[in-house]
Amino acid sequence: ACSRLVLGIETSCDDTGAAVLDERGAILGESLHSQKESTSEVGVRAVFTYKSYYLGDFFCHTCFSLKFCRTGGIIPTVAQQLHRENIEHVVQEALERSGVDPSHLSAVATTVKPGLALSLGIGLEFSQRFVRQHNRPFIPIHHMEAHALTVRMLHPVAFPFLVLLISGGHSLLAVARGVDDFLLLGQSLDEAPGDTLDKVARRLSLRKHPQCSTLSGGQAIELLAKNGDKKRFNFRTPMGQTPDCCFSFAGLRNDITITITKKEKEEGIEQGTLLSCVNDIAAATQHTVAAHLAKRTHRAILFCKANGLLPSSSPTLVVSGGVASNQYIRKALTVITETTGLHLLCPPAKFCTDNGVMIAWNGVERLREGKGILSPNIDVRYEPKAP
Ligand code: KG4
Ligand code: ZN
Repeated sequence: ACSRLVLGIETSCDDTGAAVLDERGAILGESLHSQKESTSEVGVRAVFTYKSYYLGDFFCHTCFSLKFCRTGGIIPTVAQQLHRENIEHVVQEALERSGVDPSHLSAVATTVKPGLALSLGIGLEFSQRFVRQHNRPFIPIHHMEAHALTVRMLHPVAFPFLVLLISGGHSLLAVARGVDDFLLLGQSLDEAPGDTLDKVARRLSLRKHPQCSTLSGGQAIELLAKNGDKKRFNFRTPMGQTPDCCFSFAGLRNDITITITKKEKEEGIEQGTLLSCVNDIAAATQHTVAAHLAKRTHRAILFCKANGLLPSSSPTLVVSGGVASNQYIRKALTVITETTGLHLLCPPAKFCTDNGVMIAWNGVERLREGKGILSPNIDVRYEPKAP
């Protein structure tokens, strides 16, 4: 009855999310505004502006590289404006649904790093005003820490465990050793796998395919790959000779683009109108991405075993992020965990993607351990490129 309550707020990229959780992880109220479903008006502005941003290479490639939503791309100033328009309502809605009065919150937890500066700023500014107004403690949250810990809201996974985060903006392998203790084993040297799949899908104009019109790039490739021959094109698995756990997808994407261009030339057709072997390209792309992810994860598991970084009884691999919902990639990872004796856990898709729930849960975990809880009048800064 006297469980502590945390309000979580997420605005690091293009989703405005808020949720109220109790200490056991019960979601009392939540609200999410996703810009992926925004009006076409924003989409048109986004598509238009995207080109100039892209040419200027404006985006941060380490945390939130250029990503595509259904209507176009993420434009920082547009994302900021949408967060500004939605934050108040989203937080109010989460609070109302929970029936919790702000005065009963034990803390407010908000993403402050990493992410798009303009987006982070809106969430942080709102939160600092809110905690001062209601005199509540404030817990600044690291977005990747929140992704990695979400699984503990649903399953009793003890530290340490291995975590693979794969989405449109993330690509990393780490050992989660404690609530605020992560050993980074590897991350992407260039882009994230979801970003690669989205860009390949765009290059193939998959949105023009009737059955793909409402799907993300990754979903479209998964669908088409079902009817494709993955052996027809033989893309090299990245970093075969590199003895670490890092990822790289830009070279692979370049190989795929060259293949597409060659096919278009052979058939004498315009860019983005290839039909004849799209399924095979999708299958080979998905297969190579899966093979790369699986091989790096295998290395990480062997490294952990050799250095005693994981418990000997029921060691666990947690896979999260939008790309984790790909069944072919999951199958590849299952092969790896089965041969190395690890237990594989994937949170349901809803909890793999950005939302207020994961931020609130991170707040609960920090509250329990008394880590990083600040008084409301301390000034906090956001850090777009936090390690
Ligand atoms: O976690 P998420 O919703 O947002 C962030 O990137 O933070 O992930 C979205 C990414 C997109 O790049 C999308 O293409 C990819 O996840 N994705 C998939 C699948 N569903 C979503 N990739 C491969 N297979 C899927 N089924
Ligand atoms: Zn995320």
